[in-house]
Amino acid sequence: MDSSNLKCLISREEIDSAVKRLAADIKQDFHDKNPLVIGILKGSFVFLADLVRDLDFPHEIEFVRLSSYGSGSTTAGQLTMIHDLHVSIEGRHVLVVEDIVDTGNSVAFLMKYLSEKNPASLKLCALTDKPSRRQVDVKIDYRGFIVPNLFLVGYGLDFDEKYRNLPDICTLQEIGEEE
Ligand code: PRP
Repeated sequence: MDSSNLKCLISREEIDSAVKRLAADIKQDFHDKNPLVIGILKGSFVFLADLVRDLDFPHEIEFVRLSSYGSGSTTAGQLTMIHDLHVSIEGRHVLVVEDIVDTGNSVAFLMKYLSEKNPASLKLCALTDKPSRRQVDVKIDYRGFIVPNLFLVGYGLDFDEKYRNLPDICTLQEIGEEE
């Protein structure tokens, strides 16, 4: 695959508006709660970096990392925590930030893991949501975009660790694939 197979699906301007809208909604709920914002590495790092700069109230930031997909497989039943939290979340208001909810396995695993640590509240913000691929129920409290079942790259999303740096969210088509 090369960059000639990239097509913009969600532009940087559309992303920027969505980030501002999400930040305004999150502010309403969290402005006086000093929340702990937890990004799921690696995919969320670009979104989180933009989002927190629009959260103009006190909050703290942490990251976790889950085991990745093997190529061609799904996350079902294979998830482990590679990089865990190093702070207590007991009694804290927690906002998990994710780039994409696909099967839902990653987020379902993490939300269960975090809820067992007795946070005061636990919410999920996902920039993109691909409901057509869902395998487990996930409640997305703040959602940017519903996306079709296409392979997406850019704005943190990768193909084989590439394209995370693209400012837009693009579809990546294989050569010869129908549009
Ligand atoms: C991607 C993405 C989500 C997860 C979503 O991460 O960033 O975390 O998959 O898929 P799911 O809903 O089917 O669980 P990936 O494991 O590819 O790692 P990355 O964030 O390092 O790219």
